[in-house]
Amino acid sequence: MSFNSFGRLFRFTTWGESHGPALGAVVDGCPPGIALSEEDIQPWLDKRRPGTSRFTTQRREPDQVRILSGVFEGRTTGTPISLMIENVDQRSKDYGNVALAYRPGHADYAYDAKYGFRDYRGGGRSSARETAARVAAGAVARVVIPEVRIRAWVESIGGDRIDYEAFDDAQIDANPFFCPDAAAAERWEAIVDGARKSGSSVGAVVACEATGVPAGWGAPLYAKLDSELASACMSINAVKGFEIGDGFAAAALTGEQNADPMRAGNGGPRFLANHAGGIAGGIATGQPVTMRVAFKPTSSILTPVDTITRTGEETQIATKGRHDPCVGIRGVPVVEAMVALVLADQALLHRGQCG
Ligand SMILES: Cc1cc2nc3c(=O)[nH]c(=O)nc-3n(C[C@H](O)[C@H](O)[C@H](O)COP(=O)(O)O)c2cc1C
Repeated sequence: MSFNSFGRLFRFTTWGESHGPALGAVVDGCPPGIALSEEDIQPWLDKRRPGTSRFTTQRREPDQVRILSGVFEGRTTGTPISLMIENVDQRSKDYGNVALAYRPGHADYAYDAKYGFRDYRGGGRSSARETAARVAAGAVARVVIPEVRIRAWVESIGGDRIDYEAFDDAQIDANPFFCPDAAAAERWEAIVDGARKSGSSVGAVVACEATGVPAGWGAPLYAKLDSELASACMSINAVKGFEIGDGFAAAALTGEQNADPMRAGNGGPRFLANHAGGIAGGIATGQPVTMRVAFKPTSSILTPVDTITRTGEETQIATKGRHDPCVGIRGVPVVEAMVALVLADQALLHRGQCG
């Protein structure tokens, strides 16, 4: 098993490496008859695109998507949708030292341990270039579930958190950090600039909310909506933590504090709180589905770190090349895409079992 596919009924497979000629996704199981064109996909790729500010990698990739199959006369046919994005700005010579020694925190050693051979150029398949294919597939998922709105933002960088009292949705797309708090975005300029200039990097927490998820999507036990979302988000490069609703903080609450009290509403319950993050028993309650995703700091840094070579000699590695000083920033559209992919799958599964 090589595990390049995700999903059950709405299933996608990604292919390609950082410095290969192209990468892409094949989306299988998309219902027929849905309007779909490159214009539905490109805006999401533009959000993830590298080189759009000094706070992300300076690799210049236009990330233009082409739909190669599965769409006829502007509508999905129900057959596999193949999406392709060309790589145009590879600079493989930057990776000479990565060929010889392992970057601690990156996948270099683990890939060698598993396969005994690796494409070290730009990290090969372990590079987050692969997440462009996820974002393209996620855009297809969005057209399958137009009733759902998925919105992610950066909640903290380097431990510096936004003030939720200052939350402004319009701010998220107005600064280079996907930050809903204008004052925090200003502080983060110094934090990320500082990390980059000193040859270091910082981590980030991305928060995501899906509204319009109908009560009933999801499943009990072994395919809980919580675990599907966790699996999807934990599969993103550099993600080291995931929470639904209050997550770990719920462990410090009492039962009555953690309850989401219910009152009678129009056509269903009205909840007075959402500690559960919109999921109970693995099934959506109709409340917003809320989650948090923790991204570690970028492991490719200019500061030398102790490591070993492929042949076992002790050395140090300082990683040159173009890297994101904070990978969580460009993680925002990737989180949104993975959430869309899970929810589209759940929509079809729910329809399949419950009509
Ligand atoms: C959008 C995005 C961009 C990334 N850019 C870089 C990068 O420039 N340099 C780097 O070392 N890691 C980067 N990463 C993280 C690596 O891909 C990741 O750490 C590596 O594949 C090892 O996997 P793991 O961290 O999940 O264990 C990025 C991750 C994401 C989500």
